[in-house]
Amino acid sequence: MRVPYNYLKEQFADPMEDYLDDLRPLIQSGEFTFGPFVTAFEQKFAKYIGVKHAIGSCNGTDALMLCLKSLGIKGGDEVITVPNTFYATVGAIVAAGAKPVFVDCDDRYQIDPNKIERAITARTKVILPVHWAGGSPDMQAIMEIAERRGLAVVEDACPAVGAKVNGRSSGTFGRVNAFSMHPLKPLNVMGDGGIVVTNDDEIAQWIRTYQNHGMKDRDHIQMWGINTRLQPIQAVVAGRVLDTIEDLITARNGNARRLDEGLKGWSDFIHPPRRPPENREVYQLYLVTAKRRDQLLSYLMERGIEAKVHYPIPLHLQEAAAGLGYKKGDFPVAERQAGEILTLPAHQFIAGDQIDYMIDTIRAFYLR
Ligand SMILES: Cc1ncc(COP(=O)(O)O)c(C=O)c1O
Repeated sequence: MRVPYNYLKEQFADPMEDYLDDLRPLIQSGEFTFGPFVTAFEQKFAKYIGVKHAIGSCNGTDALMLCLKSLGIKGGDEVITVPNTFYATVGAIVAAGAKPVFVDCDDRYQIDPNKIERAITARTKVILPVHWAGGSPDMQAIMEIAERRGLAVVEDACPAVGAKVNGRSSGTFGRVNAFSMHPLKPLNVMGDGGIVVTNDDEIAQWIRTYQNHGMKDRDHIQMWGINTRLQPIQAVVAGRVLDTIEDLITARNGNARRLDEGLKGWSDFIHPPRRPPENREVYQLYLVTAKRRDQLLSYLMERGIEAKVHYPIPLHLQEAAAGLGYKKGDFPVAERQAGEILTLPAHQFIAGDQIDYMIDTIRAFYLR
């Protein structure tokens, strides 16, 4: 049996029926930068997650960078985040001119709020928690620290459209927050796309100007800006995918429950993270930690199960981080997890018998 990691061929198997009808009016309109198709999606997304402003951008990395720039982040400022995230979290901090400062993660692979305060210095401007893998960190604790210490929060909710904490959408706690619509994110498009969200009118206006060359109008620029606009074609695709996202989340949660259940009792070898009942996860990645991870990975791959590792090297130990002054041992939880973390396919196109096959194969590996 095959258990594929990638689901795009299945998702877009029938583009004729599902998407081309939606794209036709856009193509015929010639509205290829901004325009009503982008606005319609932005409004739909803002309503879906419950914010005042949603602003499309080229991708999630740009969305994060826009968030930081809109807060006036500049050289010498420090931004607190985790070492166990995708490179873009830190890439965006550096692109905004700031210095990334890492805080270790907890047993759920999310930033550990108990370790944030000791990383705060006089230069800290922002706490940037990541909703890693489509789960969520303890946003209440993070917001309390930020408020007490006078810091802004920017959420990297790139993997987490549809995730919730106590019924509130992830990515709506911070002052200005970012989502990705990369093809392997829950809300995905046929290429790249990102979204910034905020309830702050001034921030929204600044981002709308900066993302479009800093233009007030065709003949006047207010500031030196850049070009990072959501492509209307992607806005149309995203609008349609958003219509089905609740079904996708339900299917992924069903698969995750079945995997969690099947791996129960094997926790000496492999275990899913703690799952606080107040969180709704969207399982952009279904993560577990596993003993003899690399051997298990090969064993699964040989049997048609496309497991992956996100990621084997924490960011503070990457070559790119050499100038930040970290060393091995600085973030023991993230370092241990990097050696044990494993992603199993649990997306919306995985069926029950494929989940059971994965569970049986994992058990067979540890029984050998
Ligand atoms: C945690 C996280 N942050 C940022 C990004 C960047 O998003 P994008 O690929 O749309 O630039 C991603 C995904 O790629 C991500 O997983």
